[in-house]
Amino acid sequence: MPVPVANHVEKLPPASRERLVRAGIDLTNYPEWPPKPKSLTLAAKVREEERPHIERGKNADPEKKALLKAAKEVIHLSKHIGTEIVGLQLSQLTDQQKDELALLIAERTVVFFRDQDLTPQQQRDLGAYFGEVEVHPTAPRVPGLPGVSIIWPELARQERVGFRNPFGTQDWHTDLTHEKQPPGITHLHNDTIPSIGGDTYWASGYSAYDKLSPAFRAKIDGLQAVYRSAHVYKNPEDPDGPLVPIERVHPLVRTHPATGWKSLFVNRKYTLRIVGFEPAESKIILDYLFDVYERSLDIQVRFKWTPGTSALWDNRISIHAAVFDYEGHEPRHGTRVSSLAEVPYFDPQSKSRREALGLDKPEDFLPKKEIIY
Ligand code: SIN
Repeated sequence: MPVPVANHVEKLPPASRERLVRAGIDLTNYPEWPPKPKSLTLAAKVREEERPHIERGKNADPEKKALLKAAKEVIHLSKHIGTEIVGLQLSQLTDQQKDELALLIAERTVVFFRDQDLTPQQQRDLGAYFGEVEVHPTAPRVPGLPGVSIIWPELARQERVGFRNPFGTQDWHTDLTHEKQPPGITHLHNDTIPSIGGDTYWASGYSAYDKLSPAFRAKIDGLQAVYRSAHVYKNPEDPDGPLVPIERVHPLVRTHPATGWKSLFVNRKYTLRIVGFEPAESKIILDYLFDVYERSLDIQVRFKWTPGTSALWDNRISIHAAVFDYEGHEPRHGTRVSSLAEVPYFDPQSKSRREALGLDKPEDFLPKKEIIY
């Protein structure tokens, strides 16, 4: 875990510095580190109360005309996931367009906007429209802007030297699944990108769920699992023992409130076990689900960033992984705002995406002959 030892302002890449200075950010100390909660109990209490959430995509025009007609181009990057919108500035969207964007993200999982002129304050304000902005209790942030986290591998390099991603974001994961109301729309704006590499992958939780047979889906619908936090804290019950994460129970399959579609809600990094199962049973099922989610290339999109690009993804229905192939030889810097969503729920009446869109044919589910390779 990075430690708040140094002022890194001198190392800020020029484009990032320029963006922050133009936005009037005080760079005397960069980044700003929040005071870390002293114990697990305090950390777990940070957002213990249920908060109201308005699902912006829910009442949007299903055709999304105000947004899509205003764009110069709408490019679907793969069949199931990922869309790029050309010719719109996020800072200038009307509320109607924001609602339609929320629905588009809920349907396409991740939506990209290049060439954005976007201050961290505008990014936070857009995030606040989508839900309460998550203020991380330990992550580095833009000075004076709690809720605008800094995604900058340089910050951890002192601690973890080497070619592995110092933040661990190169492993497939979903952000903050230990929260009572984990983020829905999450917005990463990268102002500096290496000349080669530093791409990000996303995979669709709707489509991972759709990869399972109806019989298997019926077995996992309604199950609950335990999710852990990335950060660890002192355990008041064992103050001299190892630091421990926050743990939270959520449904393993969740229903998206805007689309009404079912999504797998697991990720290898933070889903620990299925409630009520023996450890060995839980491991076998979870490993299978992780494999389907992570290894099905047809449900993924790999995005090549350019400086000044925003990616807005729905964290409820996806996993993502940042590729550290540039090995820190060139800078990569961005700011991230996560908007908290509803308490995750499973609606037994909800449908899978393929069912809802009528994409399945009955013969897809006929018993198959075993094939031996
Ligand atoms: C993240 O894991 O939230 C960051 C992804 C990235 O840096 O591309």
